[in-house]
Amino acid sequence: METNDIVAKDKKYVWHPFTQMKDYETDSPLIIDRGEGIYIWDIQGNKYIDAISSWWVNTLGHSRPRLNEALKQQLEKIEHVLLAGFSHVPAIELAEKLIKLMPDNLTRVFYSDNGSTAVEVALKMAYQYCQQSGKIKKTKFVALKNSYHGDTIGAVSVGGIDVYHKIYKPMLFDIHQAESPYCYRCLFEKEKNACNIECLSSVEEIFKKYSDEIAGIIVEPLAQAAAGMIIYPAEYLKKLRKLCDEYDVLLIDDEVAMGFGRTGKMFAFEHAGIAPDLVCLAKGLTAGYLPMAVTIASEKIYQAFYDDYDKLKTFFHGHSFTGNPLAASVAVENLKIFEDEKIIESIQPKIKVLGENLQKFKEFDCVGDIRHIGMIGAVEIVKNKTTKEQYEFKDRIGSKIYREALNNGAVLRPLGSVVYFMPPYVITEEEIEHMIDIGVKSLKNALY
Ligand SMILES: Cc1ncc(COP(=O)(O)O)c(C=O)c1O
Repeated sequence: METNDIVAKDKKYVWHPFTQMKDYETDSPLIIDRGEGIYIWDIQGNKYIDAISSWWVNTLGHSRPRLNEALKQQLEKIEHVLLAGFSHVPAIELAEKLIKLMPDNLTRVFYSDNGSTAVEVALKMAYQYCQQSGKIKKTKFVALKNSYHGDTIGAVSVGGIDVYHKIYKPMLFDIHQAESPYCYRCLFEKEKNACNIECLSSVEEIFKKYSDEIAGIIVEPLAQAAAGMIIYPAEYLKKLRKLCDEYDVLLIDDEVAMGFGRTGKMFAFEHAGIAPDLVCLAKGLTAGYLPMAVTIASEKIYQAFYDDYDKLKTFFHGHSFTGNPLAASVAVENLKIFEDEKIIESIQPKIKVLGENLQKFKEFDCVGDIRHIGMIGAVEIVKNKTTKEQYEFKDRIGSKIYREALNNGAVLRPLGSVVYFMPPYVITEEEIEHMIDIGVKSLKNALY
């Protein structure tokens, strides 16, 4: 097919996610042909740094030979088989490897196929656990403002980003919403890392009043990613764990975006030294190769489902592609690469270089906040640095920077007016510098 033909057919037939198709019709879309390492090439041969790891999924680079090989080998055996009453070696091997990476209380792996389903499973498990362990009044959940846990109805119910979630309100189940730990816009006017985590008082107040009806609280650990990489202190999670214990509330740790090294440790909860009750993983689980997710449950939760069949305590949940063998075999190889190539150790110098380079944004009077943890860097662009006045959604600051960055050879996809960098870990220190320089140049061209 000719390029023009491909573009025309894309616009005619494909309805893209999180995309206003009216804009898309007049845009020149990026049609990707191939990828290698941190780079992706479009069908015209233009090369771009994948500075957002293809929606935060890619950790070890595109088209990595070891992962390709693992996939090919599994393909020769079987592409898919159900997991209800069946099993297969990749799912078993992967579950064992994951459990070995978890704190001792987390013992059981439940498969699904994307981050949203991992969250749905966690919510349903927490709810059913309470029903089946004598806590029948505990039917509600707590979630944070600015949270994002996926796009299915349960996940949207615990979401807290109005632009994405508000319209669905009548369809959603009721939750208790607590304040967001948004340090740059601290409600208590405290400085980051020099506070007593006052923002957690909002959770405590809800627990105090309603804990007898609360099954669990769900959080994105260390960073509320989709809301604009709102990075918050590990101390918040530590104190939250204590509160959950005190009020008998399950702690659901949604590591879909942060898991597998993104924060500089294998899992974000490690920064706080805590053990959640349920952990959701997806995205980086297969190094970004294939859709797969897991919800890892504590033994206490698992035991509440374990009984004679006629007691009807079974967890009646499972998607067609649950535990897909191709995805599981890639995920196993992914974890082997983490071990063999000491990925977590190898990214530490890169994290430092990312942190240093982000400071280049300090020169702009429109940059209100620079945020950094692990392999995530973000800058929040504001209308007024003194008042922290935000740009509005309709100002479309992000899309202007996105276009500029493409012209400069990088895929950046700002979240509103937050420009962020979340590259695959195989990026070199020189490439980090280059990526940030593209960000700086794009911001300058878009706004000045
Ligand atoms: C924290 C978090 N949870 C859940 C999800 C949903 O994952 P998926 O897009 O695979 O459904 C996302 C996606 O960005 C996420 O960031």
